[in-house]
Amino acid sequence: MAIRKVAVMGHPVLRQVSETVAPGEVDTQRIQRLIDDLIETAHEYDGAGIASPQIYEPVRICLIEIRDNPRYPHFPNVPLTILINPKITVLNDAKLPKYEGCLSVPGIRGLVHRARGIRVDALDRHGEPLSFEARDLFAATVQHELDHLDGKLFVDNVTDTRTLTFIPEYDRYWHKKGLEMLEAAGAELRRKS
Ligand code: NI
Repeated sequence: MAIRKVAVMGHPVLRQVSETVAPGEVDTQRIQRLIDDLIETAHEYDGAGIASPQIYEPVRICLIEIRDNPRYPHFPNVPLTILINPKITVLNDAKLPKYEGCLSVPGIRGLVHRARGIRVDALDRHGEPLSFEARDLFAATVQHELDHLDGKLFVDNVTDTRTLTFIPEYDRYWHKKGLEMLEAAGAELRRKS
């Protein structure tokens, strides 16, 4: 396992459409090692998720794991979920307003709107089919990671560029507003006791 360097905005690898993993390839050392490196890199940088192109490997693998994440303290926890060749079906097209950040866009957040309910169909790290439904912050995180596999970054979804903010300014001026928007929408939030 290794902590890998994270590609940042401007590197062409982040703008490629990633390649599908052949089902027979899932068990190979290359893919299994890549998954281990994704896990270790996400842990090192407190990512709520990470996608393979972010570590310079444009294949359709991403993961989500939210465990008392210090970068996103209000996110409900999500166990480690590895997605190979994931596909999304929108179940609820109502939009959740949410400030997003990304390890590949360091230091910046911006307001995006994500579908509130989705179904995810993918393979797990053993090549077994995996299907689940996700909503609100979890659903938004999955949509963010899948965008990476299609060469998209969250900044592409920021419709009002006036909402772009560096993190100290986010904390000072926008964090409370962002939380109020999520609360007003009725999104489930993690509450510190
Ligand atoms: Ni990202």
